[in-house]
Amino acid sequence: MSSLLVDNIGELVTNDARPGDPLGVRRDAALLVEDGEVAWVGPARYAPAADRRLDAQGAAVLPGFVDSHAHLVFAGDRAAEFAARMAGEPYTGGGIRTTVGATRAASDDQLRATVRRLHGEAMRQGTTTIEIKSGYGLTVADEARSLRIAAEFSEDTTFLGAHVVPAEYADRPDDYVGLVCGPMLAAAAPHARWIDVFCERGAFDVDHTRAILAGGQAAGLGVRVHANQLGPGPGVRLGVELGAASVDHCTHLTGADVDALAGSATVATLLPGAEFSTRSPYPDARRLLDAGVTVALATDCNPGSSYTSSMPLCIALAVREMRMTPAEAVWAATAGGARALRRDDVGVLRRGARADLMILDAPSHLHLAYRPGVPLIRQVLHNGVPQCPH
Ligand code: NIG
Ligand code: FE
Repeated sequence: MSSLLVDNIGELVTNDARPGDPLGVRRDAALLVEDGEVAWVGPARYAPAADRRLDAQGAAVLPGFVDSHAHLVFAGDRAAEFAARMAGEPYTGGGIRTTVGATRAASDDQLRATVRRLHGEAMRQGTTTIEIKSGYGLTVADEARSLRIAAEFSEDTTFLGAHVVPAEYADRPDDYVGLVCGPMLAAAAPHARWIDVFCERGAFDVDHTRAILAGGQAAGLGVRVHANQLGPGPGVRLGVELGAASVDHCTHLTGADVDALAGSATVATLLPGAEFSTRSPYPDARRLLDAGVTVALATDCNPGSSYTSSMPLCIALAVREMRMTPAEAVWAATAGGARALRRDDVGVLRRGARADLMILDAPSHLHLAYRPGVPLIRQVLHNGVPQCPH
C-alpha cells in the first residue's frame, strides 16, 4: 500500500464543517492519501510518514469540484445559435432538436471522443466528479448508447429521454411519453443511476413529468428535474413532492417554491452558465440561501444553453451576479454538488473520503472568484492519483 503526503498546504478547505465555518478551513495543514482515499488530515507538524510527498508550496487545497449537471453526450455545436442570441434572439430550447439530429447521425466513437474531450477539459479545471445525462438521442437505441458511453466516464449517469418531444412524435406527445416510460426506460435503466425530465412549457407538462419520474422511480432510479428555467411552473414543487435529490435551474421561483424547497431535502442546483449564455436574468441565490435551502452550482455543460465545462466560471458568476459569498459558492460547487448527487464520499476531505482534490495557484479559495478567467488549478488528484498537469 503506497502513501502520499500532501503537505505545506497554506489553506485546506475540507468541507468538514465546524460551528461558524462551513468550509472547515485548516491552516498549515497536511493530508495523507492511501489507497485512493484520504487517510489522515491534520496540522503539518503532526503529519505521519509517507512513501511520497507532494509539496503544495503554501497554496490552497480544496476538494475536487462536483459538477452535478452536464449533458456531454452529443454531436455538433450550435455556435451560430449562440451568435444569433447575442444579436437579440431569445433562447427557447428549440435548438435541442438540431443536436438530436447530429447525435443520431454520429458513430459511437465520435460521441465517445466528445465526452472524453469535455471530461478532460472539466478535470483540468478541477472537476473530479461529473454527472452525465443522455437526452440527445431520443430513440430507444440512441438513449441506451448515450448512457452506455456516459457510464464509461461517470458513476452518475442520468436518463433524460424526456428532454423534448422529438420531431417524429410532434403531433402525438402522449405516444412519446409512453415510449419513454416503457421500452426506452427499460433499455436505459441498466446504465443509469438517475432519471430527469425537462418540465417546462414547450417540453413536458406536469402530468407527463409525473408519469415519467414515477416510472423511473419504480425502475430504481433517483429523481432530478429541469425545473422553472424559462418561466414559473410546477416543476420545483413536483420535484420536492417526489423526493428529488435536486431540482435544477430554479430561475423563476414563487414564494411557494422557495418554501417547499426550504422544508425539504431537495437541493436547488443553480446553473449560471445557462443564464450567461442565454443572456437571461440569474436565479436569486440569496433568497434561497436566506430561506435555508441547500444550493449547488453546476455547469449544465451542453452545446445549446451553456457550452462551458468550467466550475470556476460558475463560481465567479455566482459571486458577482447572484450575490453568493465566495465561501458559499465554493461550498455549493463541491459539497453542494455532492448533496445533489446524494454522495458522501466526494466534495469533502476527511478520513475515508475519496482523495479527489485540487491544488490552486493561489493562497486561498477566494481567488476562484477574485481572479475570474485565470487558470488557477495547478494540480488535480483523482482517487489519489495526480492527473497530468496542463
Ligand atoms: O439544461 N433545458 C434543457 N436542457 C438544456 C439545454 C439543452 C440545449 O439547449 O441543447 C439545459 O439548459
Ligand atoms: Fe440541463
